[in-house]
Order: sequence, then C-alpha cells, then structure tokens
Amino acid sequence: MGKATAIQYARNGAKVGINDLTAEICADTLEAIRAVGGQCFGVYGDISDPAVSEALTDQAMERYGRIDALANVAGVVIPGSIISTTQADIDKTLRINVKGSILTTQAAVRYMKEQEEGGAVVMVGSSAGLLGVSDRVAYSASKGAIIAVTRAIAVDLLHTKVRVNCICPGPVNSPSMEARFQATPGLREKFLAGALNDRLGEAEELAQAILFASCGEMGYLNGAIISVDGGLTCSQGIKK
Ligand SMILES: NC(=O)c1ccc[n+]([C@@H]2O[C@H](COP(=O)([O-])OP(=O)(O)OC[C@H]3O[C@@H](n4cnc5c(N)ncnc54)[C@H](O)[C@@H]3O)[C@@H](O)[C@H]2O)c1
Repeated sequence: MGKATAIQYARNGAKVGINDLTAEICADTLEAIRAVGGQCFGVYGDISDPAVSEALTDQAMERYGRIDALANVAGVVIPGSIISTTQADIDKTLRINVKGSILTTQAAVRYMKEQEEGGAVVMVGSSAGLLGVSDRVAYSASKGAIIAVTRAIAVDLLHTKVRVNCICPGPVNSPSMEARFQATPGLREKFLAGALNDRLGEAEELAQAILFASCGEMGYLNGAIISVDGGLTCSQGIKK
C-alpha cells in the first residue's frame, strides 16, 4: 500500500520521500517512481526510531523545500487472541503502528505548520480498529489508537492549516496478506464472507483514497475517519 501510494503521489506530480526497513525493500518503489518521471529518495530504518522519521522529513525539506503531505502507511500485523498475545507482540505492534505514526507526524508537522498552505497528514487505520476481529488483540489496539489519535492531532492543529485524516482499509491484497492466507486455511473465505463487494481491496484503490485525503483541494476534510473497505463496516455482515 505504501508503494502504491508513493507511485500515485509521483503520478500526480509530487516529489516523494519513502521509508522502509531496508534499501532492498525500497528499491522497486524508487525505480517505479522514476519510471513515471518522479523525483524521489529513500530513508531506511525503523520508522518508530525518531532519528529515522526526522531524517525522512529533514531530507524532504532539504531536497524539495516543503512537505505538502505525509502518509503513515508502515505497519505490522502480529496475529494473537486475548489468550495467546504476548507482551512482546503488544510492545512491537504499538511501537511500530502507533509510536511510528505519531513520531513521523510530529516530525512532518514541525515544517507543515510553518508553511502558508499547511499540509495534510494521512493516517492508515483499519476496519480492525472499528469492528471486533478475532485473533488481532494487539493489532486492533494499535488501529483503534490510530483512529483516536487522528482526532486528537486534528484538534491540536486546529489553528494551523495542517489537516489530519485517517483511511481505514478493509482486507486488501498485499504480500503480507497473501502470506497470512497461506498460513491460515479458510481466512480468505472468512474475509470475503463479510465484504459487500465480494472481493478484497487492491493497494491502488487505497492509494487513491490516501491521495484524495492528501490533496490541497480537500481543505475542508479534517479529523475524518474514512472507511475504504468494500462496505465491510456498513453492514452486519449479512449480504443476502
Ligand atoms: N492489507 C490489509 O488488508 C490491510 C487492512 C487494513 C489496514 N492495513 C494497514 O495498511 C498499512 C499497509 O498495509 P500493507 O498490507 O501494505 O502491509 P505490508 O505488510 O504489505 O507492508 C508494510 C510495510 O511496512 C514495512 N515496515 C514494517 N515495520 C516497519 C518499521 N518498523 N519501519 C518501517 N517500515 C516498516 C514492511 O517492511 C512493509 O514493507 C498497514 O498500516 C496496515 O496495518 C492493511
């Protein structure tokens, strides 16, 4: 989803800075951005390390002179129920999914709030932050927190021109999702059973939603929690 978002930003004329754990993971994304004529750079490392989020935003300012949008897409899913979740699972999930997004927002807002046009922060929540999902205790905690913090930050920044919104995807095709389907027989069918659209989402569809929330033209969109989930959260799971 991060890769699709970075490419979508570049297609729409943005210069893009990206982050993931290693240069190897980012190589394809940087190549794809350059292939559509975009300018880009990567900063590698754990996004929950403040040195990484500061390096990403500092370099964006040094290279491009402004930061119009930040998309906090990086995240981990560690399956676990209330019976099986460990302290290490909780700590890691909250560190990356929540602390990482807050610190990167803090790093970008340092610059955005000084810009005449402000800026747009897009958080990535999940339908798991809105509905009860089995075997996702730590993950649900992290995505519920992202939804709450979106509103808290939007209120903190009311007197600036910085907006903060949250896109909540339903199940979306991704390499990590495919790995979970392989590891848990029947999981794909379980997800499809709840989706009004009878399919999973595609990363490009979520990238479009993130782009929409990032656009300067959407200046009236602030503090919003937007589900992009094929109708998953609008129903009681009853399709026919
Ligand atoms: N795929 C889904 O069905 C789905 C549904 C709802 C929400 N989401 C959320 O959307 C976002 C993207 O999901 P995805 O499916 O594209 O995930 P993905 O696993 O395909 O990609 C996540 C990326 O984050 C990177 N990452 C992990 N830990 C990191 C860290 N500490 N620092 C920097 N990078 C790190 C990984 O290396 C990976 O490239 C996540 O926040 C996820 O929770 C996904």
